[in-house]
Amino acid sequence: MRLTKLILIGFMGSGKSTLAKLIAERIGFTVIDADHEIVKISEYSSISEIIQKSNEAHFRDLESQVAASLQLASSVVIATGGGVIGRAENMRHLTHGGGAVVFLDTSFAEACRRIPDRSSRPLLHDLVTAERLYNERLAVYQHYADFTVITDTKTLEMICSEIITWLNTHYEL
Ligand code: S3P
Repeated sequence: MRLTKLILIGFMGSGKSTLAKLIAERIGFTVIDADHEIVKISEYSSISEIIQKSNEAHFRDLESQVAASLQLASSVVIATGGGVIGRAENMRHLTHGGGAVVFLDTSFAEACRRIPDRSSRPLLHDLVTAERLYNERLAVYQHYADFTVITDTKTLEMICSEIITWLNTHYEL
């Protein structure tokens, strides 16, 4: 089976954007960073501005619009925002026409360690609420994952090759 899309899911700080670039380079795909696409179709200049000056519901609608626009994308690695799994339609659109979903499983403590400056992540401002969100989402990420990589103690290089090895055993690249 040919791989059309690789979709990276996981909590903030799990490394989706960085890994998407690395993997795309290795397998000759184009990277799409969903958060960047959301900012492009908004009237704001950053995700935090969208959420703070408008509201989270508006941000989620834009996120859904971007997911819908990617239904027919192919030969792409998509770095999603951590909350994309909140609407089932987003995942249906992202995986439309095939697509492998890889969950970057990072502990809450490690995710916070990787984002020392939380100002760009409005949903990480209050750590108690953020940890509750993390715990609620974990089962949802697991539900959508075709493959899960535990990332905490691994280098980017290790995670990247683990994903590519898995892809090679399941798809023609
Ligand atoms: C969010 C994650 C962020 C961004 C927005 C909301 C979330 O993306 O989409 O701040 O709900 O988890 P990253 O996962 O790339 O940080």
